[in-house]
Amino acid sequence: MDHQPHILLVTFPGQGHINPSLQFSKRLIKMGVKVTLLTAFSALNRMTKAIPTPQGLTILGFSDGYDDGFKPGYDRLHFFSELTKHGSQAVTNLITESSNNGRPFTRLVYTTLLPWVGQVARRLNFPSTFLWIQPAITLDIYYYYFNGYSDDIQKNGNDSSWSIELPGLPPLSSRDLPSFLLPSNQLAFAVSLFKEHIEFLQAETNSTVLVNSFDKLEPGALRAIEKLNMVAIGPLIPSAFLDEKDPSDTAFGGDLFKTSRNCIEWLDSKEDSSVVYVSFGSVCELSKNQIEEIARGLLKSQRPFLWVIRATATNSENEEEHKLSCEEELEKQGMIVPWCSQVEVLSHPSLGCFVTHCGWNSTLEGLVCGVPVVAFPQWSDQATNAKLIKDVWKTGVRVTVNEEGVVEGEEIERCIEMVMESEEMRRNAKKCRVMAREAVKEGGSSDFNLKAFLSEIGI
Ligand code: UDX
Repeated sequence: MDHQPHILLVTFPGQGHINPSLQFSKRLIKMGVKVTLLTAFSALNRMTKAIPTPQGLTILGFSDGYDDGFKPGYDRLHFFSELTKHGSQAVTNLITESSNNGRPFTRLVYTTLLPWVGQVARRLNFPSTFLWIQPAITLDIYYYYFNGYSDDIQKNGNDSSWSIELPGLPPLSSRDLPSFLLPSNQLAFAVSLFKEHIEFLQAETNSTVLVNSFDKLEPGALRAIEKLNMVAIGPLIPSAFLDEKDPSDTAFGGDLFKTSRNCIEWLDSKEDSSVVYVSFGSVCELSKNQIEEIARGLLKSQRPFLWVIRATATNSENEEEHKLSCEEELEKQGMIVPWCSQVEVLSHPSLGCFVTHCGWNSTLEGLVCGVPVVAFPQWSDQATNAKLIKDVWKTGVRVTVNEEGVVEGEEIERCIEMVMESEEMRRNAKKCRVMAREAVKEGGSSDFNLKAFLSEIGI
């Protein structure tokens, strides 16, 4: 019988889930826990093997029929139902086999968008814990939505002047709410995934949820709902950017896109706090028109920029059509790359501001690196994250969208200037950076919370 504690961590096959899961695995391994990370081949087959897997971590995959990756235009509903079917079988097999061969897992942990993992655990009478990879505040909002507030939000969510008071949270206008909860939402299945998560947690007697956040960042939201025992264990960011004593941990270790290295050299040639970094994460696809407006805004700012434009199925097939009208001018002023080592970029001394879609990982990475932000949210939790950036932590500004749903070049330039010139935002960002470092260091709140959780589950 193997007595070393062993966690089975099931993660959604997206970059925004894989990164915090890999980081969580590394933290657990440092605490003497073995980890098996399970995800679909759609992600695993694309994950770079550039960084060696830490000892104690095993990465396994299962086939959901989308082994070449989920591409724009595919049927999301079908993808989610295949993921559920094949994933449930894979988790069941792993748990059963590990018990049969005398090396049982100690615990099952799973990330957002995988409510079926909890169901499998319940069916097998196996203990499971949910790892929420968004901020605590959005879990609160989903909880409230499914517990009495859906009618109000559905009735008023189209009114931009309307706002709602949810217990323990700052007032939220309709544009601050997760996009899936608004009447304009087109993705009904996304709402049902969150509903399943909430119902599952409510049916548990002790529903501890691990959250990729930290106590001082979201003190109210983490405690807003008594029924949800939210335990903040973040930020789940490579240690080198949090703790200078561990310089070896410089990357998450599982990029789904090919990383450009020469941008770091390019950043080295720039003055301190001078560069505008632009990135919209791993999922969002902007319209051609919006991309042209960003280009205009960057050119107008006349500042050096590093801009990540991912190669997607659409733009790599139609290269000519996707060529930017002012490519030559852009190349003189900045650099465009298909993917970069984002935390490394954000921690570079030349960084002046971060134009971001406000995915939760990007938001935390900006905070940890002390970089002020132009918040440019697209969907899901991003609008709520933008609200925190602008109004709660005051580390950035939020762009205004015109009547056609586009952010114009002039507006982008205005926001960049505001952030680059604001001493206050820079100071606030630096304060968040100090708080994040304190949370994860030995004896800090997140370190303490994670150790307490492990001890509670008998590790
Ligand atoms: C998704 C959702 O869209 C987001 O709203 C949710 O909060 C998490 O899941 P994604 O859109 O990819 O994630 O954004 P984000 O959470 O910011 O994660 C992107 C990750 O990719 C970050 O860890 C970032 O460091 C990394 N990245 C991004 C790179 O390493 N290089 C890049 O060039 C761009």
